[in-house]
Amino acid sequence: MNSAVRNLKKERQLRQHSSNNLLKLNLLAHPYFTGVQVYLKPGGKMTFNKATVYGGGLIGGGWALNFVMHGVETTVYDLDNEKLEATRMRMLDSLQFLSSDDVAVLSKEEAEKCMMRIRFTYDVKDAVADALFIQENTPEKLEIKQSVIKEIEKYNSNAIIASSTSSLFITDIARNALYPERIVAGHPFNPVHIVPLVELVKGDKTSQETIDKAYAFYKEIGKEPVILNRENKGFIANSIQNAIYEQCHKLITDGICSVEDLDRAMVYGPGIRLGLLGPYMVLELAGGNGGIRSRMTKYGINPDIDLEAICTGTESELRNRDEHHGRTHEEMERFRDRGLVNTLKYHKKI
Ligand SMILES: NC(=O)c1ccc[n+]([C@@H]2O[C@H](COP(=O)([O-])OP(=O)(O)OC[C@H]3O[C@@H](n4cnc5c(N)ncnc54)[C@H](O)[C@@H]3O)[C@@H](O)[C@H]2O)c1
Repeated sequence: MNSAVRNLKKERQLRQHSSNNLLKLNLLAHPYFTGVQVYLKPGGKMTFNKATVYGGGLIGGGWALNFVMHGVETTVYDLDNEKLEATRMRMLDSLQFLSSDDVAVLSKEEAEKCMMRIRFTYDVKDAVADALFIQENTPEKLEIKQSVIKEIEKYNSNAIIASSTSSLFITDIARNALYPERIVAGHPFNPVHIVPLVELVKGDKTSQETIDKAYAFYKEIGKEPVILNRENKGFIANSIQNAIYEQCHKLITDGICSVEDLDRAMVYGPGIRLGLLGPYMVLELAGGNGGIRSRMTKYGINPDIDLEAICTGTESELRNRDEHHGRTHEEMERFRDRGLVNTLKYHKKI
């Protein structure tokens, strides 16, 4: 038996196994189908209705779930059978959780359909040859990512390749590429199918069309994409997290508090509020009627910061917030308080 036939056979077995396993979950039709939203313009169709996940470990598996939950036919490629099998089992488990009666993000029928939209393969040509969108999730090593780009380019010269890299520059990943204009960073957060953020950034040669299409596609699959103006180690979110961790480690090292109290101080204090509003909307409310300008100038200003960029940016965000999140201070306070109460109920603190 040649390797192509062997791969095809393996793939069929995996697909059958996936659907059998789902049937074994005894999925009953769910009475309250809440459905995962697909953000399409009226009458519009998805930017891509199929995608390839290249590297099916923790993050690849999360992307695969995210894609199939939004109706995208998905092929997952990995060179390690065991990793692929572990990912498949994790996906089944997540779908069971998401369609459980108390979570009910998906109906049980929809969860079953999700697994039918996915195909696992060990054959790289089969995975990428017809792909239009490839999400790359191989280990965080420049030489691996560069060799993956080379491998993809043997079979495909059209697809957008979005890399999940968390610390490499996309310019470096695309350095030896034949088609660097179609390579972009699309950095997600674990668990990818639940946490909405994806950070997009162009490399030196990424085209505007590539980033526009990736942005549109991510939006359609329920992500909250943000675009960086330029490459930055740690993107946006990990730069913020790293600063937080630096202070945490300092507080513990200086003996100021216990680890347990530090975690409680974050979870029951600024953490829940920041999570609902973001740092600058918190400052806007903290300034009362004067908003952020008043809050920022009240305690003196660090001369190194760009005060005007901060204040005008905050005011622009305030104008553009959607109705649900509130545009006036009163509306935002109500939104915040609802969120706080719900979160504290979940913590069993209210
Ligand atoms: N783990 C996180 O929280 C996180 C968050 C955001 C982004 N990322 C990024 O996502 C990427 C993947 O991270 P992960 O945590 O999923 O790692 P992982 O080790 O779970 O998965 C990597 C997968 O790539 C496969 N692989 C290795 N070489 C390959 C090759 N040449 N071709 C195809 N598959 C190959 C491995 O078999 C493995 O299944 C990294 O770039 C990482 O920085 C990770």
